[in-house]
Amino acid sequence: MTAATAAVPAAASTESGAIAVRGVSKWFNTAEGTPLQVLDNINLTIAAQSVVAILGASGCGKSTLLNIISGIVTPERGEICINGITAGRFSEWRSVSYMFQEDRLLPWRTTIKNVEFALETGNMPRSERESRARDALKLVGLEAFVDAFPYQLSGGMRSRVALARSLVQEPCILLMDEPFSRLDALTRAQMHEELLQIQQLKKMTIVFVTHDVEEAVVLADRVVVMAPRPGRIRDIVEIALSRPRDATEPATARLAHDLKSLI
Ligand SMILES: Nc1ncnc2c1ncn2[C@@H]1O[C@H](COP(=O)(O)OP(=O)(O)OP(=O)(O)O)[C@@H](O)[C@H]1O
Ligand SMILES: [Mg+2]
Repeated sequence: MTAATAAVPAAASTESGAIAVRGVSKWFNTAEGTPLQVLDNINLTIAAQSVVAILGASGCGKSTLLNIISGIVTPERGEICINGITAGRFSEWRSVSYMFQEDRLLPWRTTIKNVEFALETGNMPRSERESRARDALKLVGLEAFVDAFPYQLSGGMRSRVALARSLVQEPCILLMDEPFSRLDALTRAQMHEELLQIQQLKKMTIVFVTHDVEEAVVLADRVVVMAPRPGRIRDIVEIALSRPRDATEPATARLAHDLKSLI
């Protein structure tokens, strides 16, 4: 490997946006009713305000791990700490947002109403919801499209709305599960650039699931490479390349090539 392989630090930070995954194992029942181990003893410490990519082949448990970090799925063994506090309690906060592979926009709602949707479960006054949604849409460059409906938007614009909906809660942690996989290469590269600018501005921690090595190398400070059956961590690779990164540059391409051999 040309990249340095980092050991996983043992101590969990209490800094805003820090995540610790400790000894997480997960089983699901198969269609036949027999338990299938999907994750095996995952230990991972993610520093606050860093970008971590979780990379691995289809079915190796990337989404399951992200779901466990978010609190949607409970592991049979192990625990998640967010900002030094054991999860279970963190769902009460508004500190973790999740951006899914599909944009999940409501077709009957305008752009701004789709973004406001993320704030509707609390008792925030309507005017504040609207003003926050407007700010989030401005951040992703869609201020001119607040009243458009999803069918009037391009794929890239729809992705931006979904990103704005994730940002409107002002999370300290943004979990992203292959959010740009349906975009063309050019739009995807643009989204990467914008996402990193927003991450710097908002000082968020990002955990980004992908099976695309180039995407992982362009985005991440560290890449967690997973192995399948059961899902486990094969390697953690520091990406020390300067930013902005271009997937076609020799150093980036070399690193992507090295990572491919690990999957
Ligand atoms: N709710 C569930 N019930 C039963 N099995 C499940 C469930 N969710 C996931 N699995 C199984 O767990 C394994 C890991 O699934 P997961 O979706 O986490 O993989 P992934 O790495 O995200 O794959 P992909 O890249 O295709 O999205 C797969 O074998 C899948 O069939
Ligand atoms: Mg998945």
